[in-house]
Amino acid sequence: MSRHSPDFHPALRALHWLMAAAVLAMLFIGVGMVSTTGTAYVTLLALHRPLGIAILLLVLLRLPLRIMTGAPALPDDLPRIQKRAAVASHILLYLAMAGMPFIGWAMLSAGGYPVLLTKSMALPAILPRDLALYAFLRQAHTVVALLFFALILAHLSAALMHGLIRRDGVLRSMTVGHRRAGVSPKQDDADD
Ligand code: HEM
Ligand code: HEM
Repeated sequence: MSRHSPDFHPALRALHWLMAAAVLAMLFIGVGMVSTTGTAYVTLLALHRPLGIAILLLVLLRLPLRIMTGAPALPDDLPRIQKRAAVASHILLYLAMAGMPFIGWAMLSAGGYPVLLTKSMALPAILPRDLALYAFLRQAHTVVALLFFALILAHLSAALMHGLIRRDGVLRSMTVGHRRAGVSPKQDDADD
């Protein structure tokens, strides 16, 4: 759905930045966790599980809000292939934000490990214990994390291209918004 405002809904903008910080933290916590042992490993894993499940809950809140409030139209002069790439990459980002926590949860279930959120609170297993499946999901968690990281780097490059080179208001639509910045969408084009 397209939106009349040139900006994303304020709640979507807040969720975008909150979740961007959480996902980036999770990627680094994950890599840090598997590169260490001892108490640091235990502490990082104790942070990794609940933060990952929080991302899953936030994406379940964000998706209906996104469907209800829509997205501002991309600039008319943006080549069609770039518009398509933007839509496809956003769908993949949503899939990864929901998929990574699910794989984590499923993998611990298949490995027979408790999915602890706090010391005394655990989520139910979503798969029966199956070590071959655990091995597969453990690999999938790594591979999808690497692809997710690459996708985020491409997304960041595209956002910087809009904000610093094209200066077409796309970055502003996800940050302070046009009204707060005192800029009309037409001025975006005139700025170039
Ligand atoms: C957005 C969500 C998530 C991201 C971005 C993420 C990312 C990562 C990364 C990058 C690794 C290191 C992989 C490697 O180098 O092999 C990892 C490992 C792991 N993650 Fe996640 N993860 C997420 C959600 C979850 C959730 C929800 C759980 C469990 C409930 C979980 C459980 C684990 C476990 C158990 C490991 C491996 C620890 C080990 O083998 O020692 N992850 N994660
Ligand atoms: C780190 C710096 C980041 C910047 C500067 C940034 C910037 C932006 C901008 C400008 C948009 C609007 C693009 C458009 O309408 O075409 C956007 C959308 C989006 N971003 Fe980011 N982003 C960042 C990180 C992330 C991260 C880490 C994630 C997720 C893991 C993410 C997920 C998304 C998604 C899913 C959308 C589509 C929004 C929607 O249509 O609901 N972003 N981002």
